[in-house]
Amino acid sequence: MKPVRKAVFPVGGMGTRFLPATKSMPKEMLPVVDKPLIQYAVEEARAAGIEEIIFVTGRGKTAIENHFDHSYELEDMLARKNKTEILDELMDLLPNEGSISYTRQQEALGLGHAIYCAKNIVGNEPFAILLADDLVRAKRPCLRQMLDIYEQKGGNIVAIEEVPKEKTSSYGILDVASQNGNVIEVQGLVEKPAPEDAPSNFSIIGRYILQPEVFTFLEKKKIGAGGEIQLTDAMAEMLGTIPFHGLLFEGERFDCGDKTGFILANLAFAMERGDMRDGIKEFLQTNKDLF
Ligand code: UTP
Repeated sequence: MKPVRKAVFPVGGMGTRFLPATKSMPKEMLPVVDKPLIQYAVEEARAAGIEEIIFVTGRGKTAIENHFDHSYELEDMLARKNKTEILDELMDLLPNEGSISYTRQQEALGLGHAIYCAKNIVGNEPFAILLADDLVRAKRPCLRQMLDIYEQKGGNIVAIEEVPKEKTSSYGILDVASQNGNVIEVQGLVEKPAPEDAPSNFSIIGRYILQPEVFTFLEKKKIGAGGEIQLTDAMAEMLGTIPFHGLLFEGERFDCGDKTGFILANLAFAMERGDMRDGIKEFLQTNKDLF
């Protein structure tokens, strides 16, 4: 079984749900407390053992490239002021030479299309995909949990969670062949089904481990739900030829592409911080009229 060394971060979406904030700033640069969403995702991948990072960007996304590069003036100022802790943190952000690549999705034609744009950089090996707007708070990084299952089962692995039946039309949903603890064998996939058509309430979150064969199906550029080229449709075509499992990961996922999810993520991550916890608690206790 080939190891998973590369991770693709599609960041080419338009982020329309966050306008006007995302008019000139990428959605993935929105901060949860003091770190942009994309940094959480990259840190998760690195903690899981990923060696190569591939960003699929678009126009107006250069802030992401700058975030993972030197900022000499800033670094010089921090050094002169002896702000070594934050300087070290910024230096940790820098990838090893040659371990980060960028390719552009010229048109936002959908997630499947964004992944297809990474075909030549990924090559013929399994790879991970992380959507930065799905932020996972977990003791063990979500992608690491998935790699543990991948090392046993191979094939394709998606991270999943249960959603209320009435919300299936917002997600990619699994058709379950069998369940063994937190691992589900998948026999079908449907993108955004109406509740009455949904085969289960297990929804795919933005974490995938896929075999390179997916590119053969993405190449067809089939238009799916919402008029977009859907990754779920290409994955569905691989069923029956490659083992396919869903992992009910341990942890909590915040949909930071959605305003409520984004605020909840900020609250949850801020409450973990010793310097913020008391202030937030006090605010919530003294402003009951807000609820
Ligand atoms: P979303 O469905 O959240 O779309 O994409 P979006 O454009 O980012 O945001 P809204 O819905 O307009 O507010 C899920 C993920 O897929 C990426 C996004 O960047 C995000 O990480 N994506 C989506 C692309 O890279 N390219 C696309 O064409 C579409």
